[in-house]
Amino acid sequence: MQNQSQANDFGTANSDTYDRVSISLHWITAILVVGLYLLAEIWGFLEKGTPPRHALQALHVSLGLVLTVVIALRIPWRAFAGRRLPQATPGLLGYAGTAVHYLLYVLLIIQIVLGFLFRWAQDESLSFFGLFTIPSPFVFSTEQRHNFGELHETIGTLIIIIAAGHMAAALFHYYVFHDSVLGRMIPRLNRLNRKV
Ligand code: HEM
Ligand code: HEM
Repeated sequence: MQNQSQANDFGTANSDTYDRVSISLHWITAILVVGLYLLAEIWGFLEKGTPPRHALQALHVSLGLVLTVVIALRIPWRAFAGRRLPQATPGLLGYAGTAVHYLLYVLLIIQIVLGFLFRWAQDESLSFFGLFTIPSPFVFSTEQRHNFGELHETIGTLIIIIAAGHMAAALFHYYVFHDSVLGRMIPRLNRLNRKV
């Protein structure tokens, strides 16, 4: 029977790495998540109601819609089409790593839903760079708006903390264990190491 890790090639150099689509979706997600968080941090320094603050918030919503599409593609790809690799580390540590990945997926979905609800509760449609808008199908109270905002902020911070731990683990694998786990998401690293 075909090994799970060899089941799907999609153009990557070898079967020790994720396929190209999974790798692209992973790095696009990472850039968007960090960018969305930084935008919120930056507008926090700007005075309420000013045009630059509004512009950053509008950019946050537009990029949030891009993240929505990326995650909507990534999850089915991960479930049905992308290459699956065996656990990076054997035993409990490996299960912990996998649990963190699932947790990140769940938190990202919750964060996206909250982003939509928060915008709608602000009595505004979600606008994608002014090209089209997604109006609210619901009516919300001020209290709900407040709750969505608080939750969206808390989960945003949680995602960044967990992603930072996840990044630290990946770098630890590379610099301390000297194994090829980071190379699964950066195939070039494995090729470089083979040449040495
Ligand atoms: C906000 C940023 C990030 C998010 C949300 C994120 C999320 C994820 C998720 C959900 C997976 C599981 C992939 C799967 O099996 O479907 C994953 C895998 C991985 N990520 Fe990230 N990631 C982020 C940033 C990073 C960074 C900065 C690095 C490296 C410095 C990194 C390195 C890796 C590696 C090496 C794997 C594969 C681990 C394995 O095969 O067990 N990630 N990431
Ligand atoms: C992981 C991704 C995301 C992170 C880390 C994040 C983070 C944040 C943070 C920290 C705030 C500030 C909260 C406050 O000060 O009350 C915020 C506000 C907001 N976010 Fe997100 N967010 C993400 C994704 C999204 C998505 C996908 C959407 C919707 C498509 C969205 C829509 C909003 C809206 C509408 C606001 C309020 C902006 C305003 O006050 O006008 N966010 N976000």
